[in-house]
Amino acid sequence: MAAHVRSVPRDGAFVVPRGAVTGSNAPRLFALILTCSAVLGAVLPCACAPTHAAKTPLGDLANLGSLNAVMEEQEHTAEPHFAKASADTLTEDDLVTLADVGDRLVATSARTKAFSKDPEFDALADQLGGHAKALADAARAKDVAAAKKALGDVHATCDACHSKFH
Ligand code: HEC
Repeated sequence: MAAHVRSVPRDGAFVVPRGAVTGSNAPRLFALILTCSAVLGAVLPCACAPTHAAKTPLGDLANLGSLNAVMEEQEHTAEPHFAKASADTLTEDDLVTLADVGDRLVATSARTKAFSKDPEFDALADQLGGHAKALADAARAKDVAAAKKALGDVHATCDACHSKFH
């Protein structure tokens, strides 16, 4: 304690050794690094992800916490693409996107059953999962007609369940 007090000059100002100047810059440098990684973290996934806005990573869809969360996910996964069911043709990009849409709906339809209402509800969720799987398979096989058909079936199943349970 006494040794400490003696190192403080009489006027009370702390002597900052030359070498310590970098120490005062360290927090600012750290903040800059944090900011850069935050910006990169936000920008990179957007640059690499398929064209639709994927809010939840595929692997996390099985943990969605409510039926509402599942439905919101299905809405922004599927609804922007329903018009493609009656498009003249589908591009390569469309097929890549639709394969991903199919994969995501396989996961969300399975998660739907965690919020089961009755066996008919579960059957409709399974039906959605089947059409979603058909969509993913057709899109990966670049079978445009089958992908369009499966997408139409997906849409019809959303509507069938909503007219019954929503
Ligand atoms: C197995 C039945 C079932 C299927 C299949 C289904 N939904 Fe739903 N959906 C519901 C129910 C039930 C609600 C009402 C949920 C609530 O109010 O909590 C709902 C609500 C919604 C809502 C409104 C969400 C909100 O915030 O209130 C949207 C959007 C939606 N669904 C989209 C879809 C889409 C898109 C599909 C097909 C890809 C789909 N749903 C398939 C049962 C289903």
